[in-house]
Amino acid sequence: MTDALGTALDTAVQRFVTSNPVSARLAREAAEVMPGGNTRSVLHTEPFGVRIAHAEGAVLTTVDGARVVDLLGDYSAGLVGRRPEVADAVRDVLDRGWSYGAMSEPEADLARALVDRFPSVDQVRFTNSGTEADLMAVLTARHVTGRDRVVVFEGAYHGGPMTFLPGSAPLRVPFDFTVLPYNDVAAVEAEFSEAGEKIACVLVEPMLGAGGCIPASAEFLAALRRLTRDHGALLVLDEVMTSRLAVGGAQEAYGVRADLTVLGKYFGGGLSFGAFGGSRELMAAYDPARGGLTHGGTFNNNAFTMAVGPAVTRLLDAETLALLNRRGDRLRERLAEALVPIGWCVTGIGSMMTIHPTPAPVTRWSDIAGVDVRRRRLLFHDLLARGYYIAERGYLALSLSVTEDHLDGFVGVTQALVGEYADLAT
Ligand SMILES: Cc1ncc(COP(=O)(O)O)c(C=O)c1O
Repeated sequence: MTDALGTALDTAVQRFVTSNPVSARLAREAAEVMPGGNTRSVLHTEPFGVRIAHAEGAVLTTVDGARVVDLLGDYSAGLVGRRPEVADAVRDVLDRGWSYGAMSEPEADLARALVDRFPSVDQVRFTNSGTEADLMAVLTARHVTGRDRVVVFEGAYHGGPMTFLPGSAPLRVPFDFTVLPYNDVAAVEAEFSEAGEKIACVLVEPMLGAGGCIPASAEFLAALRRLTRDHGALLVLDEVMTSRLAVGGAQEAYGVRADLTVLGKYFGGGLSFGAFGGSRELMAAYDPARGGLTHGGTFNNNAFTMAVGPAVTRLLDAETLALLNRRGDRLRERLAEALVPIGWCVTGIGSMMTIHPTPAPVTRWSDIAGVDVRRRRLLFHDLLARGYYIAERGYLALSLSVTEDHLDGFVGVTQALVGEYADLAT
Protein backbone atom coordinates (compact mmCIF):
# COMPACT_ATOMS: atom_id res chain seq x y z
CA MET A 1 0.00 0.00 0.00
CA THR A 2 1.29 3.42 -0.85
CA ASP A 3 0.40 5.97 1.84
CA ALA A 4 -0.36 8.55 -0.83
CA LEU A 5 -3.04 6.30 -2.32
CA GLY A 6 -4.58 5.57 1.09
CA THR A 7 -4.66 9.26 1.96
CA ALA A 8 -6.15 10.25 -1.41
CA LEU A 9 -8.88 7.62 -1.05
CA ASP A 10 -9.67 8.64 2.55
CA THR A 11 -10.00 12.25 1.43
CA ALA A 12 -12.25 11.30 -1.50
CA VAL A 13 -14.49 9.14 0.70
CA GLN A 14 -14.73 11.85 3.35
CA ARG A 15 -15.75 14.35 0.67
CA PHE A 16 -18.40 11.88 -0.55
CA VAL A 17 -19.80 11.46 2.99
CA THR A 18 -19.91 15.21 3.58
CA SER A 19 -21.59 16.00 0.28
CA ASN A 20 -24.18 13.20 0.42
CA PRO A 21 -25.95 13.55 3.80
CA VAL A 22 -29.38 12.50 2.48
CA SER A 23 -27.95 9.38 0.80
CA ALA A 24 -26.17 8.62 4.10
CA ARG A 25 -29.40 8.89 6.10
CA LEU A 26 -31.36 6.79 3.59
CA ALA A 27 -28.59 4.18 3.65
CA ARG A 28 -28.79 3.98 7.47
CA GLU A 29 -32.57 3.60 7.36
CA ALA A 30 -32.39 1.01 4.59
CA ALA A 31 -29.82 -1.01 6.54
CA GLU A 32 -32.43 -1.63 9.24
CA VAL A 33 -34.61 -3.59 6.82
CA MET A 34 -32.22 -4.79 4.11
CA PRO A 35 -28.78 -6.31 4.73
CA GLY A 36 -26.33 -3.46 4.28
CA GLY A 37 -29.24 -1.38 3.01
CA ASN A 38 -28.76 -3.16 -0.31
CA THR A 39 -30.77 -5.41 -2.59
CA ARG A 40 -28.46 -5.46 -5.65
CA SER A 41 -24.91 -6.22 -4.54
CA VAL A 42 -23.15 -4.40 -7.38
CA LEU A 43 -24.63 -1.09 -6.22
CA HIS A 44 -22.80 -1.17 -2.92
CA THR A 45 -19.97 1.32 -2.66
CA GLU A 46 -18.06 2.12 0.50
CA PRO A 47 -19.22 3.61 2.81
CA PHE A 48 -22.73 3.66 1.24
CA GLY A 49 -24.32 3.75 -2.19
CA VAL A 50 -25.50 7.00 -3.70
CA ARG A 51 -29.29 7.37 -4.00
CA ILE A 52 -30.90 8.85 -7.14
CA ALA A 53 -34.03 11.00 -7.00
CA HIS A 54 -34.52 11.88 -10.66
CA ALA A 55 -33.32 10.89 -14.11
CA GLU A 56 -33.73 12.79 -17.35
CA GLY A 57 -31.80 12.39 -20.59
CA ALA A 58 -28.25 11.49 -19.60
CA VAL A 59 -28.41 13.29 -16.27
CA LEU A 60 -29.07 11.70 -12.88
CA THR A 61 -29.92 13.89 -9.91
CA THR A 62 -28.95 12.50 -6.53
CA VAL A 63 -31.16 12.84 -3.47
CA ASP A 64 -28.63 15.44 -2.31
CA GLY A 65 -29.25 17.52 -5.43
CA ALA A 66 -26.04 16.82 -7.38
CA ARG A 67 -26.45 16.43 -11.13
CA VAL A 68 -24.18 13.80 -12.68
CA VAL A 69 -23.75 12.56 -16.23
CA ASP A 70 -24.88 8.95 -16.41
CA LEU A 71 -22.12 7.05 -18.21
CA LEU A 72 -23.11 3.75 -16.61
CA GLY A 73 -26.43 3.33 -18.41
CA ASP A 74 -27.79 1.02 -15.68
CA TYR A 75 -24.96 -1.45 -16.26
CA SER A 76 -26.04 -1.65 -19.93
CA ALA A 77 -29.78 -2.16 -19.25
CA GLY A 78 -30.35 1.54 -19.92
CA LEU A 79 -29.10 1.52 -23.51
CA VAL A 80 -32.06 3.42 -24.94
CA GLY A 81 -31.98 5.87 -22.07
CA ARG A 82 -35.14 7.60 -21.01
CA ARG A 83 -36.54 7.92 -24.49
CA PRO A 84 -40.12 9.16 -25.01
CA GLU A 85 -40.90 6.03 -27.05
CA VAL A 86 -40.42 3.95 -23.88
CA ALA A 87 -42.51 6.31 -21.78
CA ASP A 88 -45.26 6.26 -24.44
CA ALA A 89 -45.36 2.47 -24.46
CA VAL A 90 -45.63 2.43 -20.67
CA ARG A 91 -48.37 5.09 -20.75
CA ASP A 92 -50.27 3.06 -23.31
CA VAL A 93 -50.30 0.09 -20.93
CA LEU A 94 -51.38 2.37 -18.08
CA ASP A 95 -54.32 3.42 -20.25
CA ARG A 96 -55.22 -0.13 -21.31
CA GLY A 97 -54.68 -1.72 -17.88
CA TRP A 98 -52.22 -4.38 -16.78
CA SER A 99 -51.87 -7.64 -14.85
CA TYR A 100 -54.01 -9.90 -17.01
CA GLY A 101 -53.13 -13.44 -16.00
CA ALA A 102 -53.41 -14.10 -19.73
CA MET A 103 -51.51 -13.52 -22.92
CA SER A 104 -51.46 -10.16 -24.67
CA GLU A 105 -50.90 -8.92 -28.19
CA PRO A 106 -47.44 -7.34 -27.90
CA GLU A 107 -45.62 -10.45 -26.64
CA ALA A 108 -45.56 -12.10 -30.05
CA ASP A 109 -44.46 -8.77 -31.56
CA LEU A 110 -41.49 -8.71 -29.22
CA ALA A 111 -40.69 -12.36 -29.90
CA ARG A 112 -40.89 -11.67 -33.65
CA ALA A 113 -38.62 -8.63 -33.35
CA LEU A 114 -35.99 -10.71 -31.52
CA VAL A 115 -36.25 -13.66 -33.89
CA ASP A 116 -35.79 -11.26 -36.81
CA ARG A 117 -32.58 -9.91 -35.26
CA PHE A 118 -30.82 -13.20 -34.51
CA PRO A 119 -30.64 -15.70 -37.38
CA SER A 120 -29.76 -18.51 -34.92
CA VAL A 121 -32.99 -17.91 -33.01
CA ASP A 122 -36.26 -19.30 -34.43
CA GLN A 123 -38.18 -19.14 -31.18
CA VAL A 124 -37.79 -17.52 -27.77
CA ARG A 125 -39.12 -17.79 -24.27
CA PHE A 126 -39.24 -14.77 -22.00
CA THR A 127 -38.03 -14.64 -18.41
CA ASN A 128 -37.81 -11.92 -15.78
CA SER A 129 -34.05 -11.47 -15.93
CA GLY A 130 -30.87 -12.44 -17.70
CA THR A 131 -30.06 -14.68 -14.73
CA GLU A 132 -33.18 -16.76 -15.22
CA ALA A 133 -32.61 -16.88 -18.98
CA ASP A 134 -29.06 -18.17 -18.47
CA LEU A 135 -30.26 -20.80 -16.03
CA MET A 136 -32.99 -21.90 -18.43
CA ALA A 137 -30.54 -22.09 -21.34
CA VAL A 138 -28.15 -24.28 -19.37
CA LEU A 139 -30.99 -26.47 -18.09
CA THR A 140 -32.23 -26.81 -21.66
CA ALA A 141 -28.77 -27.87 -22.84
CA ARG A 142 -28.50 -30.43 -20.04
CA HIS A 143 -31.97 -31.76 -20.87
CA VAL A 144 -31.53 -32.11 -24.63
CA THR A 145 -28.03 -33.60 -24.44
CA GLY A 146 -28.68 -35.79 -21.39
CA ARG A 147 -25.31 -34.62 -20.07
CA ASP A 148 -24.38 -32.70 -16.93
CA ARG A 149 -21.17 -30.81 -17.45
CA VAL A 150 -21.13 -27.09 -18.19
CA VAL A 151 -17.93 -25.43 -19.39
CA VAL A 152 -17.60 -21.82 -18.24
CA PHE A 153 -14.80 -19.26 -17.88
CA GLU A 154 -12.91 -17.47 -15.14
CA GLY A 155 -14.29 -13.98 -14.60
CA ALA A 156 -17.63 -14.82 -16.23
CA TYR A 157 -20.91 -13.43 -14.95
CA HIS A 158 -24.13 -15.18 -15.94
CA GLY A 159 -26.19 -13.83 -13.03
CA GLY A 160 -25.68 -14.30 -9.28
CA PRO A 161 -26.03 -18.11 -9.20
CA MET A 162 -23.63 -18.58 -12.13
CA THR A 163 -20.83 -16.17 -11.34
CA PHE A 164 -17.19 -17.16 -11.71
CA LEU A 165 -15.59 -14.23 -9.94
CA PRO A 166 -13.90 -14.47 -6.53
CA GLY A 167 -16.17 -15.14 -3.58
CA SER A 168 -19.07 -16.30 -5.74
CA ALA A 169 -18.91 -20.06 -5.08
CA PRO A 170 -21.23 -20.22 -2.00
CA LEU A 171 -24.23 -19.04 -4.01
CA ARG A 172 -23.51 -20.96 -7.19
CA VAL A 173 -26.02 -23.46 -8.53
CA PRO A 174 -24.62 -26.97 -8.01
CA PHE A 175 -24.05 -27.95 -11.65
CA ASP A 176 -21.00 -29.88 -12.79
CA PHE A 177 -19.00 -26.83 -13.87
CA THR A 178 -15.55 -26.86 -15.41
CA VAL A 179 -14.08 -23.36 -15.12
CA LEU A 180 -11.40 -22.59 -17.71
CA PRO A 181 -9.31 -19.50 -18.49
CA TYR A 182 -10.98 -17.17 -20.99
CA ASN A 183 -9.50 -16.87 -24.48
CA ASP A 184 -7.48 -20.04 -23.90
CA VAL A 185 -8.18 -22.34 -26.86
CA ALA A 186 -5.73 -25.01 -25.68
CA ALA A 187 -7.48 -25.32 -22.29
CA VAL A 188 -10.86 -25.87 -23.96
CA GLU A 189 -9.40 -28.38 -26.42
CA ALA A 190 -7.87 -30.31 -23.51
CA GLU A 191 -11.20 -30.37 -21.64
CA PHE A 192 -13.07 -31.66 -24.71
CA SER A 193 -10.51 -34.31 -25.52
CA GLU A 194 -10.63 -35.54 -21.91
CA ALA A 195 -14.37 -35.29 -21.19
CA GLY A 196 -16.14 -34.40 -24.46
CA GLU A 197 -18.92 -36.96 -23.98
CA LYS A 198 -19.85 -35.45 -20.59
CA ILE A 199 -20.21 -31.85 -21.74
CA ALA A 200 -23.73 -30.53 -22.21
CA CYS A 201 -22.72 -27.04 -23.24
CA VAL A 202 -20.19 -24.26 -23.25
CA LEU A 203 -21.70 -21.12 -21.72
CA VAL A 204 -19.77 -18.03 -22.73
CA GLU A 205 -20.01 -14.26 -22.91
CA PRO A 206 -18.55 -13.01 -26.22
CA MET A 207 -16.98 -10.33 -24.04
CA LEU A 208 -16.45 -10.88 -20.29
CA GLY A 209 -18.72 -8.10 -19.05
CA ALA A 210 -18.68 -7.87 -15.25
CA GLY A 211 -15.30 -9.58 -15.47
CA GLY A 212 -13.79 -6.41 -16.98
CA CYS A 213 -15.06 -5.92 -20.56
CA ILE A 214 -12.49 -8.36 -21.93
CA PRO A 215 -13.39 -9.27 -25.54
CA ALA A 216 -13.17 -12.83 -26.80
CA SER A 217 -10.70 -13.37 -29.60
CA ALA A 218 -12.32 -14.46 -32.86
CA GLU A 219 -10.17 -17.57 -32.71
CA PHE A 220 -11.52 -18.45 -29.26
CA LEU A 221 -15.20 -18.21 -30.24
CA ALA A 222 -14.54 -20.12 -33.46
CA ALA A 223 -12.84 -22.88 -31.46
CA LEU A 224 -15.78 -23.09 -29.05
CA ARG A 225 -18.14 -23.43 -32.01
CA ARG A 226 -16.01 -26.16 -33.59
CA LEU A 227 -15.45 -28.15 -30.39
CA THR A 228 -19.08 -28.07 -29.25
CA ARG A 229 -20.26 -29.17 -32.69
CA ASP A 230 -17.70 -31.95 -32.93
CA HIS A 231 -18.61 -33.32 -29.51
CA GLY A 232 -22.40 -33.03 -29.63
CA ALA A 233 -22.50 -30.25 -27.04
CA LEU A 234 -24.36 -26.92 -27.35
CA LEU A 235 -22.81 -23.49 -27.66
CA VAL A 236 -24.73 -21.10 -25.42
CA LEU A 237 -23.88 -17.45 -26.06
CA ASP A 238 -24.74 -15.15 -23.19
CA GLU A 239 -25.49 -11.99 -25.13
CA VAL A 240 -27.13 -10.16 -22.25
CA MET A 241 -24.56 -7.42 -22.70
CA THR A 242 -23.06 -8.04 -26.14
CA SER A 243 -26.30 -8.15 -28.14
CA ARG A 244 -25.89 -4.38 -28.52
CA LEU A 245 -22.77 -4.77 -30.66
CA ALA A 246 -24.84 -5.24 -33.83
CA VAL A 247 -28.49 -5.86 -34.66
CA GLY A 248 -27.66 -9.56 -34.55
CA GLY A 249 -25.42 -9.20 -31.51
CA ALA A 250 -21.85 -10.38 -31.08
CA GLN A 251 -22.73 -13.53 -33.03
CA GLU A 252 -23.24 -11.32 -36.07
CA ALA A 253 -20.13 -9.25 -35.35
CA TYR A 254 -17.97 -12.37 -34.86
CA GLY A 255 -19.69 -14.56 -37.44
CA VAL A 256 -20.45 -17.34 -34.92
CA ARG A 257 -23.78 -19.17 -34.79
CA ALA A 258 -25.05 -20.02 -31.31
CA ASP A 259 -27.20 -23.02 -30.46
CA LEU A 260 -28.86 -21.11 -27.66
CA THR A 261 -28.77 -17.35 -27.17
CA VAL A 262 -29.40 -15.57 -23.89
CA LEU A 263 -30.71 -12.00 -23.91
CA GLY A 264 -31.48 -9.52 -21.17
CA LYS A 265 -31.11 -6.00 -19.92
CA TYR A 266 -31.84 -3.22 -22.44
CA PHE A 267 -34.53 -4.92 -24.56
CA GLY A 268 -36.87 -4.15 -21.66
CA GLY A 269 -36.08 -0.44 -21.95
CA GLY A 270 -35.18 -0.36 -18.25
CA LEU A 271 -37.93 -2.76 -17.14
CA SER A 272 -37.10 -6.31 -16.08
CA PHE A 273 -36.42 -8.54 -19.06
CA GLY A 274 -34.77 -11.77 -20.09
CA ALA A 275 -35.11 -14.25 -22.94
CA PHE A 276 -33.52 -17.40 -24.23
CA GLY A 277 -33.94 -18.85 -27.66
CA GLY A 278 -32.61 -21.11 -30.36
CA SER A 279 -33.69 -23.34 -33.20
CA ARG A 280 -37.27 -24.51 -33.55
CA GLU A 281 -36.11 -28.07 -32.81
CA LEU A 282 -34.44 -27.13 -29.52
CA MET A 283 -37.21 -24.82 -28.36
CA ALA A 284 -39.92 -27.37 -29.24
CA ALA A 285 -39.22 -28.93 -25.84
CA TYR A 286 -41.21 -26.03 -24.35
CA ASP A 287 -44.35 -26.44 -26.46
CA PRO A 288 -47.11 -27.13 -23.89
CA ALA A 289 -49.35 -28.72 -26.53
CA ARG A 290 -46.73 -31.41 -27.04
CA GLY A 291 -46.43 -32.20 -23.36
CA GLY A 292 -43.25 -30.18 -23.25
CA LEU A 293 -41.11 -28.93 -20.42
CA THR A 294 -42.78 -26.64 -17.92
CA HIS A 295 -41.33 -23.19 -17.70
CA GLY A 296 -43.41 -20.92 -15.48
CA GLY A 297 -43.04 -17.31 -14.44
CA THR A 298 -45.88 -15.00 -13.42
CA PHE A 299 -44.09 -12.00 -14.89
CA ASN A 300 -42.53 -13.66 -17.96
CA ASN A 301 -45.01 -11.77 -20.14
CA ASN A 302 -45.70 -8.79 -17.90
CA ALA A 303 -47.68 -6.23 -19.84
CA PHE A 304 -45.16 -3.42 -19.43
CA THR A 305 -42.03 -5.19 -20.69
CA MET A 306 -43.91 -6.85 -23.54
CA ALA A 307 -45.19 -3.47 -24.74
CA VAL A 308 -41.91 -1.61 -24.28
CA GLY A 309 -39.73 -4.26 -25.96
CA PRO A 310 -40.99 -3.77 -29.54
CA ALA A 311 -40.48 0.01 -29.20
CA VAL A 312 -36.90 -0.60 -28.05
CA THR A 313 -36.14 -2.89 -30.98
CA ARG A 314 -37.48 -0.25 -33.39
CA LEU A 315 -35.13 2.34 -31.88
CA LEU A 316 -32.09 0.08 -32.16
CA ASP A 317 -31.58 -0.27 -35.89
CA ALA A 318 -28.22 -1.08 -37.49
CA GLU A 319 -27.28 2.54 -38.05
CA THR A 320 -28.07 3.66 -34.50
CA LEU A 321 -26.09 0.80 -32.99
CA ALA A 322 -23.14 1.34 -35.35
CA LEU A 323 -23.03 5.04 -34.44
CA LEU A 324 -23.14 4.33 -30.72
CA ASN A 325 -20.47 1.66 -30.98
CA ARG A 326 -18.21 3.93 -33.04
CA ARG A 327 -18.66 6.61 -30.41
CA GLY A 328 -17.60 4.07 -27.77
CA ASP A 329 -14.59 2.95 -29.82
CA ARG A 330 -13.48 6.55 -30.19
CA LEU A 331 -13.96 7.19 -26.46
CA ARG A 332 -11.84 4.13 -25.64
CA GLU A 333 -9.04 5.41 -27.88
CA ARG A 334 -9.09 8.79 -26.17
CA LEU A 335 -9.18 7.26 -22.69
CA ALA A 336 -6.35 4.86 -23.52
CA GLU A 337 -4.23 7.80 -24.57
CA ALA A 338 -5.16 9.81 -21.47
CA LEU A 339 -4.26 6.91 -19.14
CA VAL A 340 -0.80 6.26 -20.58
CA PRO A 341 1.10 8.49 -18.11
CA ILE A 342 -0.09 6.41 -15.11
CA GLY A 343 0.14 3.02 -16.82
CA TRP A 344 -3.60 2.21 -16.71
CA CYS A 345 -5.58 0.80 -19.62
CA VAL A 346 -9.12 0.47 -20.93
CA THR A 347 -10.73 -2.59 -22.52
CA GLY A 348 -14.05 -3.27 -24.20
CA ILE A 349 -15.89 -3.25 -27.48
CA GLY A 350 -18.11 -0.54 -28.89
CA SER A 351 -20.21 1.23 -26.30
CA MET A 352 -19.08 -0.87 -23.30
CA MET A 353 -15.73 -0.51 -21.58
CA THR A 354 -13.82 -0.84 -18.32
CA ILE A 355 -10.92 1.25 -17.06
CA HIS A 356 -8.27 -0.88 -15.35
CA PRO A 357 -5.56 0.35 -12.99
CA THR A 358 -3.06 -1.91 -14.73
CA PRO A 359 -1.19 -1.78 -18.04
CA ALA A 360 -2.41 -3.40 -21.28
CA PRO A 361 -2.76 -6.06 -22.53
CA VAL A 362 -5.70 -7.51 -20.64
CA THR A 363 -6.96 -10.65 -22.38
CA ARG A 364 -8.16 -12.83 -19.52
CA TRP A 365 -9.50 -12.27 -16.08
CA SER A 366 -6.29 -13.24 -14.29
CA ASP A 367 -4.64 -10.18 -15.91
CA ILE A 368 -6.70 -7.91 -13.65
CA ALA A 369 -7.25 -10.20 -10.65
CA GLY A 370 -4.41 -8.65 -8.66
CA VAL A 371 -5.07 -4.94 -9.19
CA ASP A 372 -5.26 -2.65 -6.17
CA VAL A 373 -9.03 -2.05 -6.02
CA ARG A 374 -8.46 1.18 -4.07
CA ARG A 375 -7.34 2.81 -7.32
CA ARG A 376 -10.70 2.02 -8.94
CA ARG A 377 -12.55 3.32 -5.89
CA LEU A 378 -10.56 6.53 -5.99
CA LEU A 379 -11.38 7.06 -9.66
CA PHE A 380 -15.07 6.35 -9.00
CA HIS A 381 -15.27 8.92 -6.18
CA ASP A 382 -13.22 11.52 -8.03
CA LEU A 383 -15.38 11.22 -11.15
CA LEU A 384 -18.59 11.36 -9.13
CA ALA A 385 -17.41 14.50 -7.34
CA ARG A 386 -16.74 16.06 -10.75
CA GLY A 387 -20.13 15.10 -12.15
CA TYR A 388 -19.63 11.75 -13.92
CA TYR A 389 -21.22 8.49 -12.83
CA ILE A 390 -19.56 5.17 -13.75
CA ALA A 391 -19.43 1.84 -11.89
CA GLU A 392 -17.01 1.50 -9.01
CA ARG A 393 -15.34 -1.31 -10.92
CA GLY A 394 -14.44 1.16 -13.70
CA TYR A 395 -17.21 0.08 -16.05
CA LEU A 396 -19.12 2.36 -18.46
CA ALA A 397 -21.96 1.54 -20.88
CA LEU A 398 -23.00 4.41 -23.12
CA SER A 399 -26.67 5.02 -23.70
CA LEU A 400 -28.32 6.80 -26.63
CA SER A 401 -28.74 9.84 -24.37
CA VAL A 402 -25.00 10.45 -23.98
CA THR A 403 -23.69 13.17 -26.30
CA GLU A 404 -20.25 14.04 -27.68
CA ASP A 405 -20.21 17.02 -25.31
CA HIS A 406 -20.67 14.71 -22.34
CA LEU A 407 -17.79 12.56 -23.57
CA ASP A 408 -15.51 15.55 -24.22
CA GLY A 409 -16.14 16.68 -20.65
CA PHE A 410 -15.47 13.20 -19.30
CA VAL A 411 -12.19 12.83 -21.19
CA GLY A 412 -11.10 16.28 -19.96
CA VAL A 413 -11.82 15.34 -16.33
CA THR A 414 -10.01 12.02 -16.76
CA GLN A 415 -6.95 13.82 -18.14
CA ALA A 416 -6.98 16.17 -15.14
CA LEU A 417 -7.25 13.23 -12.71
CA VAL A 418 -4.38 11.44 -14.41
CA GLY A 419 -2.30 14.53 -13.65
CA GLU A 420 -3.33 14.32 -9.98
CA TYR A 421 -2.63 10.57 -9.81
CA ALA A 422 0.96 10.92 -11.06
CA ASP A 423 2.24 10.68 -7.47
CA LEU A 424 0.15 7.62 -6.61
CA ALA A 425 2.17 5.04 -8.54
CA THR A 426 3.08 1.91 -6.59
C1 LIG B 1 -23.50 -11.27 -19.32
C2 LIG B 1 -24.60 -11.25 -18.29
N1 LIG B 1 -25.37 -12.34 -18.15
C3 LIG B 1 -26.37 -12.37 -17.27
C4 LIG B 1 -26.65 -11.29 -16.47
C5 LIG B 1 -27.77 -11.35 -15.49
O1 LIG B 1 -28.83 -10.54 -15.91
P1 LIG B 1 -29.86 -9.99 -14.84
O2 LIG B 1 -29.14 -9.01 -13.98
O3 LIG B 1 -30.96 -9.39 -15.65
O4 LIG B 1 -30.34 -11.16 -14.04
C6 LIG B 1 -25.88 -10.14 -16.58
C7 LIG B 1 -26.13 -8.98 -15.71
O5 LIG B 1 -25.29 -8.13 -15.50
C8 LIG B 1 -24.82 -10.12 -17.51
O6 LIG B 1 -24.03 -9.05 -17.65
